[in-house]
Amino acid sequence: MKEKVVSVLEQLFQKLENEDLNILDAATGAGNTTLELAQRIKGKVISVDMDTADSAVERIEDANLSSKVEFVKGNLARMDFLQDASIDAIVSHSTVSSIPAETPFKVLQVFKEFFRVLKPDGILLIIDYYPLESAAVKNKADEIAQDAWRVYKAVAELVGDHHHEELPPEWICETLHDIGFKDISHEKISERKLSESFGEYIENMLMYISNIKDDGLRNAFKKKILQLEKDARLYGKSEYSSVYCVWGAR
Ligand SMILES: C[S@@+](CC[C@H](N)C(=O)[O-])C[C@H]1O[C@@H](n2cnc3c(N)ncnc32)[C@H](O)[C@@H]1O
Repeated sequence: MKEKVVSVLEQLFQKLENEDLNILDAATGAGNTTLELAQRIKGKVISVDMDTADSAVERIEDANLSSKVEFVKGNLARMDFLQDASIDAIVSHSTVSSIPAETPFKVLQVFKEFFRVLKPDGILLIIDYYPLESAAVKNKADEIAQDAWRVYKAVAELVGDHHHEELPPEWICETLHDIGFKDISHEKISERKLSESFGEYIENMLMYISNIKDDGLRNAFKKKILQLEKDARLYGKSEYSSVYCVWGAR
């Protein structure tokens, strides 16, 4: 997990009285945030995902932290399994951008559920990526990142899969305000830097395009992906975007 993200989580624990807390991790994903929270918490992490990965559960078991984590398979937009005002803090890392864009009201519904389950003065922390299209392109490595992300989204559209849709922090702040959250602020927490995992992207994308039925289209994408790999060897490739956090309180 990025150093800057860990330092924001540390800030969260400084704001909380770390005694018998209930923290909601929304959503589990690969379990990175669940692990960081469980290592620090006195109390319980409730880690929710609509599709809980076995590997995330195993990570927590391997770290001997199972007694501190309750995994729940459920929808953040309808958390019937959580009572009103039962949660001290919510952390949502890289999830808001993962909520299917084809259901725009779902993000709103998720925020309303966050509001419902938080205790009075409970803290909401959202960490996510700036929309790529608004990120400054300063060099060839940034340009390659931009292109790579666009290719991924285009293939996802083509094969009918959901893809990430990053939201600007200003929109999130306004929406939280309308719902009733207080003490809302946002800040940039990391600038994009050179990425170390481009090989993985190429490998995954070459596999992903095998879902494209049309030979001509599939070959055109393959050509583009191989060109990106060649360019990245020469110039490097940046991370997708810079990262922000949004703070709010119930
Ligand atoms: C990028 S991952 C989250 C990463 C994780 N927070 C971490 O720090 O490693 C996004 C996750 O959000 C989950 N997700 C998206 N929409 C959801 C919803 N409405 N309810 C529950 N989980 C959802 C997806 O299943 C996916 O596992």
